[in-house]
Amino acid sequence: MSVVIRALGASIPPQRITNEDLAARVDTTDDWIRSHTGIGARHFAPDGILTSDMAAEAAKTAMAKAKIGPHDLDLIVVATATPDYFGFPATACIVQDKIGAYGCAAYDIVAGCTGFIYALHAASSMLETSHGRHALVIGAEALSRIVDWNDRGTCVLFGDGAAAAVISRIDEAGRGCLSFLLGADGGGARDLYLVQAERDRTFERAQPVVPVISMNGRKVYDFAVKSITVMIERLMHKTVYRLEDFAWIVPHQANARIVQAAAKRFNIPQDKIYLNIEEYANTSAASIPLALAEMDQKGLLKPGDLVMLVGFGAGLTYGAAVVRW
Ligand code: COA
Repeated sequence: MSVVIRALGASIPPQRITNEDLAARVDTTDDWIRSHTGIGARHFAPDGILTSDMAAEAAKTAMAKAKIGPHDLDLIVVATATPDYFGFPATACIVQDKIGAYGCAAYDIVAGCTGFIYALHAASSMLETSHGRHALVIGAEALSRIVDWNDRGTCVLFGDGAAAAVISRIDEAGRGCLSFLLGADGGGARDLYLVQAERDRTFERAQPVVPVISMNGRKVYDFAVKSITVMIERLMHKTVYRLEDFAWIVPHQANARIVQAAAKRFNIPQDKIYLNIEEYANTSAASIPLALAEMDQKGLLKPGDLVMLVGFGAGLTYGAAVVRW
């Protein structure tokens, strides 16, 4: 028995914002953003388009490719830092309604940019231990709504988008999700968090809260390079695979320099690492499935390919998965 990624779908909002567009409203330059991050553009969801809208669109594409209907689903897990409603209800429940998958389980996972890997682990474990056959694992974000436009060190980094994977339990062994590593370092929680812009609220003076991202960029950078390095080392130790066995390494797309630093440490050739940060910037929980959906669209993922997913993010969390395509 295996749990495989059977099909992928993506939803990219049409509004494309280049670095030059940002430089017209923020004190920054295309040169600074490119040289410090590798980002050239990002896509923003227009007013009225919610995280659940992008998630539902990506889910419908993935289900059509997998040739399954909404009633075939046993579970929907949405990884997001930008749910439609902070707190509740879960965005996964709203997606369930939008795609007509009534009755299946649905919940969200909050693990920052590692969210997709956490969600893949949760959903594949559920399929392994229950009678379920199919699940939707979605990473979806509307980060443009929570960036602090007065903080040029963070507002240039993020973009919106969603991608969904249909995962299915099959009888064949040795394929799909082979191994996971998940971890967290809660001591770093304050290095990347959502701060409530309106602080002096009382019960009598309730104000809508507009949370914005607060980040210690240098600390997160160091954590990211270290966690990718440690995860690769641990995976090599825990599993039978060697780095040369991997056809692709698909990292969370936070900063091209973070990925390059980790690649240099292990002499990993750049052409084994998939990067699309230049076009989409950091889409948090959506970044890894968006990369996978694009690779799938381009025909880069061949049956039998060994693929490593590796992510890190708010929490601070980290995670890796080994998947046989
Ligand atoms: N445009 C122009 N200048 C900028 C700028 C921007 N958008 N943002 C910061 N600067 C300036 C700073 O003001 C500072 O100027 P100073 O030297 O005159 O004080 C200079 O650039 C260096 O700033 P610093 O914050 O030290 O840059 P950095 O090299 O650490 O790069 C990040 C900043 C955010 C790109 C980098 O720390 C990073 O990528 N961190 C990880 C972020 C991340 O991945 N977060 C998500 C994790 S899931």
